Amino acid sequence: MNLKQKYGNTALVAGASEGIGAAFATCLAAEGMNLVIIARHPQPLQQLADFLKSKYDVNVLCITCDLSGLNACQQIEEALNGCEINLLIYNAALSYIGPFIKNSAENHSKAAQLNMVTPLKMVRLYGEKMVIRGKGAVVLMTSLAGFQGSGYLSVYAATKAFNRILAESLWYEWKDSGVDILACCAGATATPGYKNTNPEKTGFFTPRVLEPEEVVHECFKKLGKQPSYITGRGNRIASFIMQKILPRKMAINIMGDTTRKMYRL
Ligand SMILES: NC(=O)c1ccc[n+]([C@@H]2O[C@H](COP(=O)([O-])OP(=O)(O)OC[C@H]3O[C@@H](n4cnc5c(N)ncnc54)[C@H](OP(=O)(O)O)[C@@H]3O)[C@@H](O)[C@H]2O)c1
Repeated sequence: MNLKQKYGNTALVAGASEGIGAAFATCLAAEGMNLVIIARHPQPLQQLADFLKSKYDVNVLCITCDLSGLNACQQIEEALNGCEINLLIYNAALSYIGPFIKNSAENHSKAAQLNMVTPLKMVRLYGEKMVIRGKGAVVLMTSLAGFQGSGYLSVYAATKAFNRILAESLWYEWKDSGVDILACCAGATATPGYKNTNPEKTGFFTPRVLEPEEVVHECFKKLGKQPSYITGRGNRIASFIMQKILPRKMAINIMGDTTRKMYRL
């Protein structure tokens, strides 16, 4: 059974115009699902929509919306005009790399809104409808940074921990409801956003950087099977060592030291 047969006709990808979000949208269109794709800039979004419509013969609705806005969820509801969402992927995120007190309180709030509050509202709204229908799925994109304290990524890491715990909790609540939910925990992935941070390779044991398509492929393989999943074998090994073998204090130090070196802080 493919995703369309299992969950329904329409998927919404929040943060869809590039990187992992665009890979999600492309994979879903290839499975024949109609799409609702969301981002702030209209042009790349429309380009992706045109490509997917012509290549896969699916319907694509573009919604231009800043997901860090207080009324983002309401704006999306209005643009959807009653369209049923069968698969929700919340992918957009804001990450600031650097000392906590060098970033403004305003940016911290913006990250909390984009990375936590808007996905929380969307999962509440569309998740309830899915549970009532007894069918549907949700994917929340999270990060290895959210597994322990991550110095110089503090707010981002904390918001990613929120998403993982939310998805795992709802996986338990919804496991007999027909609605699947997965926290997809990515490590470094070769997206434009990641490449723009200009990271330095920090050592021989750094896990391989995955392609966005690999993340999406692994994510859909595990959706419905696990509450959360780490994409990439190297990332799973690194995470096992950090979470299960090393003392937590050491894991936090390694994470902070690696980020500091990687970004020359
Ligand atoms: N790439 C990595 O190495 C990595 C590692 C671990 C976890 N992750 C997670 O994977 C997810 C995707 O990461 P990514 O690197 O592909 O891309 P990203 O930079 O987080 O997001 C890219 C997409 O989201 C949209 N977007 C960003 N801010 C938005 C906003 N305020 N409102 C609406 N749309 C917004 C962008 O379009 P616009 O700019 O037009 O809005 C673009 O389509 C994130 O949740 C991230 O935390 C990524």
